[in-house]
Amino acid sequence: MKAVIINRYGSPEVLQYEDIEQPKIKSDQLLVKVHAAGVNPIDWKIRKGMLKLLTGNKFPLQLGFDVSGEVVEIGDKVTDFKKGDSIYSYLGNLPGGAYAEYAAVPAQTAALKPNNMTYEQAAAVPIAGLTALQGLRDLGKIKRGQKVLINGGSGGVGTFAVQLAKVFETAVTAVCSTKNIEFVKSLGSDRVIDYTQQDFTQDTVKYDIVFDTVANQSLS
Ligand SMILES: NC(=O)c1ccc[n+]([C@@H]2O[C@H](COP(=O)([O-])OP(=O)(O)OC[C@H]3O[C@@H](n4cnc5c(N)ncnc54)[C@H](OP(=O)(O)O)[C@@H]3O)[C@@H](O)[C@H]2O)c1
Repeated sequence: MKAVIINRYGSPEVLQYEDIEQPKIKSDQLLVKVHAAGVNPIDWKIRKGMLKLLTGNKFPLQLGFDVSGEVVEIGDKVTDFKKGDSIYSYLGNLPGGAYAEYAAVPAQTAALKPNNMTYEQAAAVPIAGLTALQGLRDLGKIKRGQKVLINGGSGGVGTFAVQLAKVFETAVTAVCSTKNIEFVKSLGSDRVIDYTQQDFTQDTVKYDIVFDTVANQSLS
């Protein structure tokens, strides 16, 4: 099958479109014919070697954590899916494997793709959506009526964070650049701070949660 792989760490030129062996699935996995793969910062961080401690120095490495596609084979122990299902999923293990014609997907992390979503839309959801959900709900313990600031509200994680914070009925302030002000408002943000004009850390408003996807400010 065709896949996008790297044989060394480096700039985008190290990405190669090559023939590699199709993955063999385990008993708890699905073999998925990939229709779309999401692109996230973790992919270029791995490509550049920034996560070398975790990804090691064995090549080739196949990238891509977010995948959507059609189930073409199921493992012996899989009961929740059948051949022909349209699914989307996060591929949990480093370095991924979604940039390929076929991917081995853990049945546990897969979900049926809603009919009103395209494959491209579905592949954009898993890792960014989960990061926002885990940050706000699980770590932030977000509650109705709170004041929430989302730094990077226009980014991959931030767009989910703004919408999820509104689902939890909080008052949302999003931080982004001038070109994205109307966009984050359309996602439901009550207030917007343009980081090219104002430093949100100098704001006098107090927040119950600061969800920082940019991490360009000190914690204090
Ligand atoms: N995507 C994921 O699934 C995921 C999962 C876990 C962790 N992360 C990590 O979370 C971080 C953000 O990921 P992402 O996917 O949301 O990235 P992204 O889509 O590239 O979004 C970056 C955000 O940062 C804002 N930004 C850029 N420069 C800024 C500055 N100087 N000051 C303030 N804001 C600035 C951008 O605003 P404008 O576009 O309006 O300029 C945008 O909202 C990355 O470090 C990534 O590794 C991401």
